[in-house]
Amino acid sequence: MIELQDKSLLQTGLFMGGAWREASTGETFAVTDPATGEIIAECAKGGAEDAEAAVAAAEAAQDDWAARPAKERAGILGKFYHLIVENADDLAQILTAEQGKPLAEARGEILYGAAFFEWYAEEAKRVYGETIPTPNRGQRLLVLRQPIGVCAAITPWNFPMAMIARKAAPALAAGCTMVLKPATSTPLSALALGELARRAGVPDGVFSIVPGPASTVGDTLVASDAVRKITFTGSTDVGRTLMSRAAGNIKKLSLELGGNAPVLVFEDADIDVAVRGAIASKFRNAGQTCVCANRIYVHDAIYDRFSEAFTRAVKAMKVGPGREAGTEIGPMIDEAALEKVEEHVSDCVDKGGTVAAGGQRHALGGTYYEPTVLTGAIQSMLIAHEETFGPVAPLFRFSCETEAIQLANDTEYGLAAYLFTRDAARQWRVGEGLEFGVVGVNTGIVSYEGAPFGGMKASGVGREGSRHGIDEFLETKYLCIGEIGS
Ligand code: SIN
Repeated sequence: MIELQDKSLLQTGLFMGGAWREASTGETFAVTDPATGEIIAECAKGGAEDAEAAVAAAEAAQDDWAARPAKERAGILGKFYHLIVENADDLAQILTAEQGKPLAEARGEILYGAAFFEWYAEEAKRVYGETIPTPNRGQRLLVLRQPIGVCAAITPWNFPMAMIARKAAPALAAGCTMVLKPATSTPLSALALGELARRAGVPDGVFSIVPGPASTVGDTLVASDAVRKITFTGSTDVGRTLMSRAAGNIKKLSLELGGNAPVLVFEDADIDVAVRGAIASKFRNAGQTCVCANRIYVHDAIYDRFSEAFTRAVKAMKVGPGREAGTEIGPMIDEAALEKVEEHVSDCVDKGGTVAAGGQRHALGGTYYEPTVLTGAIQSMLIAHEETFGPVAPLFRFSCETEAIQLANDTEYGLAAYLFTRDAARQWRVGEGLEFGVVGVNTGIVSYEGAPFGGMKASGVGREGSRHGIDEFLETKYLCIGEIGS
């Protein structure tokens, strides 16, 4: 049961062409609360026909939306931002109910997501072109930046609101229309955004939402010739599939995929700062973010001191339902996520690691897992190479800076990395040596709407947020005008 001040934010239909609809399939699917396993809503289950209808609505709306002056689009996005902020408490309730994260974290996500609309409302007005000095008399050379056109977004369950905002805000600001397929485990936050988009005056068809299976809704969006761009956040495996399917009609792609974030704690680090940073990075959303610390490398000289302080802090963390005051770690999203965590922990122990805290399912039952610290981790363990996506922190050792960089880069992924050191020269050296798109120095929290977010290597292509994020939704056109006189 979700208690809302504004009950109309709890929508369960498809949002298409500016209106709420039933699914053409006539079917629904259940959305459950991971804290209790209870069904909290039955949502319309979109199918291929619905995805096609949403794309058609987007195509119909595209030219008018692109032609509107940037200031007009900015005004609508600004209104959208204010509506999200005004409804943050209700949106956080919906988010916690379907995803499980603590209410304070859910509210934080809503405001983080809202900030993308605020930021890109401004940025819409700064999509500048260029002039190029002409090589020939009587010619003028210009560069225009124009919206790509109809875009499709496929978004994950771990940030049911912010990952949508990070895609929709720059797309709409650039003058693109968008059809969204949210994760089927967390569609309610997306649908609430649809309701606020409608109230903000986003024109019909500019932003549509079709919850439904990847095999019908997702595939239809990817195969559609009318969709010019796919923007996706999720696993590297799905990213690979999308990339190969998008090759069919040479669709543009932005992919924000898996990570395997290293944390390097050097011998000169402030241990309190490093413990706080590593905890913030590791246990945000119960370890279920792509930028969560996955491997913590600690210099030999401070390994024992760091490990003691870190383990003490982890043992003090409160596990519970997201809506309960004081909860720091909620349930995991589902049984499969829990099983992966168990596999990593037992592999670590089998290969000689020691459980310093946690190490098992939580007494609360369901999908709760104890916040866990593993010491004596080594590179041959699964946890060194695969993303755990859960509340498990393995501590590895290193003995010099070169080794630390080499170990950190020993992964196919390249999304986020963190380092803790007070040495400014080392901050530069290591910061430059890490093959990751986002690097935190003496901090475990790096996300900000005004900064570029995205990965290298198997962590994806493209950037979200900042002035770079809008480029992903723009085409660059060169205009050469001849015969215009001297
Ligand atoms: C993610 O897990 O992909 C998003 C994390 C963030 O934006 O901080």
